[in-house]
Order: sequence, then C-alpha cells, then structure tokens
Amino acid sequence: MSFRIALIKGDGIGPEVVDSARAVLDKTAKVFGRTFDYEEALAGGCAIDAVGEPLPSESVRICKSCDAVLLGAVGGTKWDNLPVNIRPEKAILGLRSELGLFANLRPALLHKALAPFSPLRGDIADKGIDLMFVRELTGGIYFGERGVTRGAGGKAAFDTEMYSEAEIERIGRKAFELAMGRRKDVVSIDKANVLESSRLWRETMRRIAAEYPSVKYSEMLVDNAAMQLVINPSRFDVVVTSNLFGDILSDEAAAVTGSIGLIPSASVGEGSFGLYEPIHGSAPDIAGSGKANPTAAILSAAMMLRCSMSLCEEADRIEEAVEKALMSGARTSDMVCADSEKALSTKGMTEAVLSFI
Ligand code: IPM
Ligand code: MN
Repeated sequence: MSFRIALIKGDGIGPEVVDSARAVLDKTAKVFGRTFDYEEALAGGCAIDAVGEPLPSESVRICKSCDAVLLGAVGGTKWDNLPVNIRPEKAILGLRSELGLFANLRPALLHKALAPFSPLRGDIADKGIDLMFVRELTGGIYFGERGVTRGAGGKAAFDTEMYSEAEIERIGRKAFELAMGRRKDVVSIDKANVLESSRLWRETMRRIAAEYPSVKYSEMLVDNAAMQLVINPSRFDVVVTSNLFGDILSDEAAAVTGSIGLIPSASVGEGSFGLYEPIHGSAPDIAGSGKANPTAAILSAAMMLRCSMSLCEEADRIEEAVEKALMSGARTSDMVCADSEKALSTKGMTEAVLSFI
C-alpha cells in the first residue's frame, strides 16, 4: 500500500529536521515494505520570498491531495517586521483553518530514566511525565473578531475569545476518545471564575463527560494548571483546553520534560487526515549549523503513521528506535546535561535513530 505525504520544510531548521524525518520514514518503509510518495509544498517565510505570500493556494491544494502533511517550522527574524497578514505565522493559521484541523495533540513524555533532562527537582521528575495536551486549534481568540479603534484613552485594540457549543463538543469528544485509550483521566482547563466563554466551555465539557462514565473528569483553572504542571505533572493524563491556553501551557509541559526538541504534535480534524510538526520553532539562530535536534520531527512522523495511516507497528518501531537511541546516550547539544556527554550533530542523531529501525 502506498501513501502520499506533503512535505512543508519551511524556514530555519525546518528543512534539516524534515530531511531527518524523511530518512527515518524511508528506512521504515523499506523494512516494512511500504511506499511513501512525497510532494513538497512551500509555506512560511520561504513562500513569502518565492511568491510574495505565506500560504500559496497551490500549497493548500497539494496538502489536500495527500494523506497527511509533515511540516518543519515556519518563521524567522527576517520576516518579523512584515504586516500581520503576510507574516509566516499566517501560513500555519491558514493551514489549520483551510484543512479543518481543529484539534492539536501535543504529548509531553518524560521517561523515568531520562529524568535528569528535566529542569524539575529530582523527586518530582523521578515520577515521570506522560500527558497529552488536546488544544482547540481553529477557534477562540486566535480567530475571533479583532480590531484597532480609538477611545478616550487614545488608540485601543481588541481580540475576541468566542466559542460555540459545537466547537467545544467536538474538541471535548476528541479528548475523551483519546483518554479511553490511555489512563482514562481528563482535566479540562479554563478561566471560568472570570470568563463567560469559559463558563460555556465548562458547561459543555460536563455534558460530554457524562457520555464517558468510565473516564474520570475534573476541571482546573488555568492559573492553577500552570502551577500544577510544575509541581505535580505526573497527575495529568489528558488535558483539554482552548486555543490560547493550550498554546501557552503546552510549551510549559514540553519544557518540563527537558527539551522542546523532543516533542512532536499532530493537528487533526474529523477524518484521518492530519498535519504533523515538531512543537519547537524555526530556531533561526542555529539554522544551518547542524545543531538542530531532529527527534521531535522524527516523532512527528511516527504520529503521522499511527494517526493518519494506521501504521501502528511502524510508528511503534520509530518511537522505540528514538527511545533506544536516547538510552544509548545519543544527545544533541540542547540535551547535553553532563560534562562527559558529547553532543551529536543533526545527522549524527539521525544516524543513531536509523541504526535502531
Ligand atoms: C504553535 C505556534 C503557533 C501558535 C504560532 C506560530 C502561530 O506558537 O503552534 O504553538 O501560536 O499556535
Ligand atoms: Mn506555541
């Protein structure tokens, strides 16, 4: 069986880490007798440079014609001063809404054996972290009404947080379905003590929770959640929250595992189609230096095989290979934590993973 994958390498370290992920996919394909066909598409800063817009319609067409999209990263200081509608970030937001990818799944995993990577105190990190953020991705303040006006205080600007019941229901169901295959525990995060949109979020989540009586359900205010992620992260299984809260808290969850260079993500909708990307950005400061950690991109490819192609054995093989490489001491410079450890280049780290496929 053959699968079509759209590759969006993007900017900064994006091309380097996507090349690594592709090498791992190709080896996996060989071992398991699969065929992956790739089609490259432009998005982000490189698209602005090439055709004057961050997300050409041709790129959206290519993505829609494929089974899944593998994306590196977009953005960089070079494009930071452009007007907001032609900034590289527009490409990411446009892809999410054009492709109907309303759910962003961001796992944060810290094996007990890798606890020294974590910036957390030993007794906390030793308990391990294995949680899944389910972030709403195509609604809320990111897509709400916004504008600049003038008032008594001079110039004023606003953005609107708005959620419909339908939007909350579908992200809620995603979270509960995922929890059924995990430790059956969902925490919904909001700011219901202040925000009307959070009160509707809570009311709707409770209704969905009632459909899944075997899943333990609880609610947490976002400020408390930010604290619990640092003092007691092992208590979380599935965490469901809005677009903005999820953006902020998922970076925090990634950081407590030790390096955001290790964390993949999946953006999915109703069907099997999805977009997979590392959660680290384009890291322009190290682009081209061979220092980028390819692990998150490689793990994103594994998520793609499992979620969009139902190739679970292949996905397991990649995840195990990453784990074995890490356990054997393979490290990129963002992960080196003892004087005795030597940092591998992007290529070196990729080779280490390939050797275990
Ligand atoms: C992310 C990024 C994006 C977001 C930016 C680049 C628009 O930070 O994927 O988390 O805020 O969603
Ligand atoms: Mn973010």
